[in-house]
Amino acid sequence: MKFVFFFIYVPFVYSELHNFTTTYTEMNGQMVAEIPEISSVTVLDGQPIDFYDAEIKKLIPRQDWMKEFASGGRFKEYTEFRERLQRTNEISIHVLMERFNQTHGVHTYQRMYGCDWDDETGDSHGFDEHAYDGKNFISLDMKELRYIAYVPQGLPTTTKWNNNKTQLEFVNQYYRHDCVGWIHRLLTLRKTNLETKGILEVSLLQMDRSSPVLCHATGFYPSAVTITWLRNGQNYDEDVDLRETLPNEDGTFQKTSTLTVPPDEWEKDQFVCVVEHMGRTIRKILTECKMKNSAEWCFYGCVFYS
Ligand SMILES: *[C@@H]1O[C@H](CO)[C@@H](O)[C@H](O)[C@H]1NC(C)=O
Ligand SMILES: *[C@@H]1O[C@H](CO)[C@@H](O)[C@H](O)[C@H]1NC(C)=O
Ligand SMILES: *[C@@H]1O[C@H](CO)[C@@H](O)[C@H](O)[C@H]1NC(C)=O
Repeated sequence: MKFVFFFIYVPFVYSELHNFTTTYTEMNGQMVAEIPEISSVTVLDGQPIDFYDAEIKKLIPRQDWMKEFASGGRFKEYTEFRERLQRTNEISIHVLMERFNQTHGVHTYQRMYGCDWDDETGDSHGFDEHAYDGKNFISLDMKELRYIAYVPQGLPTTTKWNNNKTQLEFVNQYYRHDCVGWIHRLLTLRKTNLETKGILEVSLLQMDRSSPVLCHATGFYPSAVTITWLRNGQNYDEDVDLRETLPNEDGTFQKTSTLTVPPDEWEKDQFVCVVEHMGRTIRKILTECKMKNSAEWCFYGCVFYS
């Protein structure tokens, strides 16, 4: 039984809204002729899935399931899709410096693009936002299908982009269809991987003798799970608080049920936490809390070994 780091969960609630965003950052050096430093990270539903290694000019997968995908034939298609997304409507940092009359200093061009997709309603939105030195510069208005400049220096660019019908059609096709298609495919890949590799782990924890006992289930996929308590073999739902299901970094889920019963009661009666997931049942009996050493109490609370 190992310790569960349940304190570092991502503090957002799981929703059916999926988000696929690439954040591209380009920074020039102090020297005029210096090659800009580039970084590009892509995040799917809050989870980083790949990054661009500018030195070797390659897209590097981040998650296990992405690595698996990267070793297959379709990754080439994904890479091409990504490269095209990046190349379309790209601005050079040197052009930006010129427009702002800057000859030196460290400057940053940042771009966030991608799409989100609601798998319940089917609604999707594409976005492409450009910023210079931390301020909004240009953004794509998908409703009107045109680019908007936030500052006068952006006008030459938006005028050029908005007058190119071929490019606008291309952008429309990308953000409305291709991008959402890729969210779909990536989610399917992740799902298949997590279903076969997701490992449900259950532990009982307590911060100190007077605090509630937590029954913590983690590492499961898909998200549907039930956590119940038994008192002397009978269903017990008093003094029980079932928390929301939360996503883990790796795409699996976690959920906690707390039991607020004083220790003298659970030392007298038998309490069992029952976790059911995909036809599998794990039972944890609440027994005397055993600690390995006092430091563990301070940092992790108490873990019950049962
Ligand atoms: C998608 O993610 C990006 C980056 O994290 C964020 O700025 C954007 O607001 C998100 N979109 C939605 C609809 O949540
Ligand atoms: C840059 O310099 C030009 C010519 O000197 C001037 O017309 C323009 O207003 C300047 N732009 C900014 C942002 O300072
Ligand atoms: C319009 O955009 C396409 C695709 O990005 C490009 O190949 C073409 O040169 C552009 N045309 C003009 C007139 O800028």
